[in-house]
Amino acid sequence: MMEETSLLLLLLVSSLLCCTTNQARLTVSPSSSQFFEDESFSLSCEEDDSSGGWLLRRNTTKRQMSQCGVKWGRSAGSSCDISVTAPWDSGVYWCESREGATSNSINITVTGGPVILQSPVLPVMEGDDVTLHCKNKTSNLPADFYKDGSLIRTEPAGHMTIHHVSKSDEGLYKCHSSSHGESPPSWITVTAPPPTSGAPPLVFRLAYRLVVFSPYFISTLLMMSLYRHRTTAGNDISMATPLPNQAAEGLAEEYDDIMEVTTEHHF
Ligand SMILES: *[C@@H]1O[C@H](CO)[C@@H](O)[C@H](O)[C@H]1NC(C)=O
Ligand SMILES: *[C@@H]1O[C@H](CO)[C@@H](O)[C@H](O)[C@H]1NC(C)=O
Repeated sequence: MMEETSLLLLLLVSSLLCCTTNQARLTVSPSSSQFFEDESFSLSCEEDDSSGGWLLRRNTTKRQMSQCGVKWGRSAGSSCDISVTAPWDSGVYWCESREGATSNSINITVTGGPVILQSPVLPVMEGDDVTLHCKNKTSNLPADFYKDGSLIRTEPAGHMTIHHVSKSDEGLYKCHSSSHGESPPSWITVTAPPPTSGAPPLVFRLAYRLVVFSPYFISTLLMMSLYRHRTTAGNDISMATPLPNQAAEGLAEEYDDIMEVTTEHHF
């Protein structure tokens, strides 16, 4: 009995350990999808548990899958600092665990030109408001804003807000200032609200716990009932009612038997 319990506990613990998923989220600071040449930014892998050890990788036109700290960037814990940027730092960045798990990826554009479009670098939630800025190194610029190559709005103040974004707002955006020039394009991704994004919903995690725990729970009940049958059988002779146990006897009645037995022992 004791060995079985230990075995079950071992199984329980190992199943919990094996299936907890490591997740990392990549973020950029300052939060922008475009930077001017010579500006600096920092990327960081935020992880659910700290056991991981994530690498920051990127794909650029020059080099694929290269790791922060080797030919570019300065690695600092789970962050990577890029201090003097150049156009060839443009590319897609992501975090990768040693087991090969990957985080969300992020597109970053570094331009040698005079204008950038400041847009959300992480996916925006459906229903949120999003503001885009068209700017040079010092200020916002009066500009035309384009989506997928078509003019959508002219904004003298240099910024444009899209209210209550929906999936149809997803696309490639850029801005054009008649006095300063055009920004590179950046992709804006729109995602569904929290319950269906990020970590698995609570319901699934609870269901998972239940599936893991129920074999343990059921076998505990089984062992309890086995033990109880033994006890009642051993005490049958001394009991006042020698009637044979009916097959259909309910759990509650059997429980009463145990109570009787234990009470008898107290006398
Ligand atoms: C990076 O490049 C590699 C090799 O070309 C490719 O397999 C991988 O999918 C790319 N990763 C991303 C996030 O674009
Ligand atoms: C990166 O940009 C490409 C197009 O330029 C787009 O297809 C892709 O979805 C973007 N990825 C992210 C994470 O925004």
